Amino acid sequence: MPIPVIDFSKLNGEEREKTMAEIANGCEEWGFFQLVNHGIPVELLERVKKVTTECYKVEREENFFKDSTPVKLLKELIEKNGEEKLENLDWEDVFLLTDDNEWPPKTPGFKETMTEYRAELKKLAEKLMEVMDENLGIPKGHIKKLFNGGDEETAFFGTKVSHYPPCPHPERVTGLRSHTDAGGVILLFQDDVVGGLEILKDGKWTDVQPIPNAICINTGDQIEVLSNGRYKSVWHRVQAVPNGTRRSIASFYNPSYNATIEPASQLIQKENKEVNHFGYPKFVFGDYMSVYTEQKFLPKEPRFEAVKAAN
Ligand SMILES: [Fe+2]
Repeated sequence: MPIPVIDFSKLNGEEREKTMAEIANGCEEWGFFQLVNHGIPVELLERVKKVTTECYKVEREENFFKDSTPVKLLKELIEKNGEEKLENLDWEDVFLLTDDNEWPPKTPGFKETMTEYRAELKKLAEKLMEVMDENLGIPKGHIKKLFNGGDEETAFFGTKVSHYPPCPHPERVTGLRSHTDAGGVILLFQDDVVGGLEILKDGKWTDVQPIPNAICINTGDQIEVLSNGRYKSVWHRVQAVPNGTRRSIASFYNPSYNATIEPASQLIQKENKEVNHFGYPKFVFGDYMSVYTEQKFLPKEPRFEAVKAAN
């Protein structure tokens, strides 16, 4: 079954209620859904594809195949006729964009295009957080306020530009190992053609089907906590593929490191105690990230336990 595809433009018309319900279902039942007609101009998305592909080709591809650890280790494994898989790394080329990073120097238009793109995506993230507030029955602006630690604009908005180069032995290494995302709302602009992203749904790995110019949304561990488990962060991974280079641009709206995260009080009061068996903790996001950095590819529950114990 394909993951839900939702027409975000319908949120402003007669079909608002239906669209709100579709988003609620996407958050509650899937943890992943795709938005079409999301308001990001197609012309901008086309430029994003162009500059990121060009940047990879001109500034990164050669180094990946010449120098990178996954390429070296995979080669060693094949040369010694080993049977095993590479378990502790990903077949991925990745770099992070924030507002004040160094920009790739050799790709014309990269900085301008990605700055414009990030501003649009941040607005979309904020709209989505308001939709989630409403669907969860918590005060409008609650998620944004929580993530900003009460202050305006201290939340972290980052963009990971990833490429998954063709892999000669995809059975021996994963593009990106299974994990749940640490943060808040993640907005993924994935390749039009080259797939590989899978989510764990009802115990089965399910493809996130590429749809040109759609934005795929998923929720991270912090949304799970603040929603008191209504919106679960979902396991996902990227399979390495033998043909084609997969482009994947993930932007994430995360709490500031100083923000205190806890379940929204409105959701705790309503919650049936029997259902609320886990007891999500209250913690400072920076402390969570210290644990996450060590345990990204492990189950999330021990992370919640670790920050609970620290408080
Ligand atoms: Fe992820």
